Amino acid sequence: MDPNIEKYNAELKGASAQEIIQYFAVNFKGKIAFASSLGLEDQVLTEMIAGIDPEIRIFTLDTGRLFQETYDLLDITGKKYGIKIEVMFPDAEDVEEMVNSKGINLFYDSIENRKLCCYIRKTEPLSRALSGVSTWITGLRREQSVTRTQVSTVEWDDIQKKIKVNPLADWTTEQVLDYICSHKIPYNTLHDKGYPSIGCLPCTRPVEPGTDIRSGRWWWESPDNKECGLHQK
Ligand code: ADX
Ligand code: SF4
Repeated sequence: MDPNIEKYNAELKGASAQEIIQYFAVNFKGKIAFASSLGLEDQVLTEMIAGIDPEIRIFTLDTGRLFQETYDLLDITGKKYGIKIEVMFPDAEDVEEMVNSKGINLFYDSIENRKLCCYIRKTEPLSRALSGVSTWITGLRREQSVTRTQVSTVEWDDIQKKIKVNPLADWTTEQVLDYICSHKIPYNTLHDKGYPSIGCLPCTRPVEPGTDIRSGRWWWESPDNKECGLHQK
């Protein structure tokens, strides 16, 4: 546990997302990275980071099961902001072993299988992406789901043993959408087709307007425990 978490939260009370990013960019220079899924929040943060400190590393976890629209956005975003978004892949041997022993669509068969797939395709590559880093930035927001109501601006990530910074923790969905529109930020075209939250293709489906933002993710599982391991407590 970093003893300064409370201090950071106190110092950054009322700070804007840009000020939060700036604070960590200065204090953790060379040891900070941003994990982008290319979701709406992450596109907001990419735009801010590109303007504040292009030296902050930006990476995405390519699970091998993403939507084509997500790959297109990855390409467009890098070109628009003149930045390099590093792509992390899962360990090929681990994926082969998992798929050949449990099936290509193993995640629908049990929660255990789903968690294994998320571990191999996301959590393990995340740990590799964060090696040598002491602070990681995410696009988590409290409003996103019942599992995220306690998200703070600065937290201790006990799984990765890193400081986790969530500059948009208290932003509303409306604020995110307004920022995207007013700054003409590129976004995933699937958002206009009923997908408010986008992950892997086989584990994401569109939702009815007004429904819980993450209800289209792993829709067959209980909402109280729907985290993939990246943000498990
Ligand atoms: S997830 O854990 O259920 O997939 P969600 O899609 O809401 O999470 O994203 C929350 C935050 O986790 C994102 O803002 C981003 O920081 C990180 N994240 C999620 N998926 C990825 C990914 N594929 N690559 C990089 N970061 C990711
Ligand atoms: Fe596997 Fe689905 Fe998790 Fe993607 S979201 S890593 S396909 S279980």
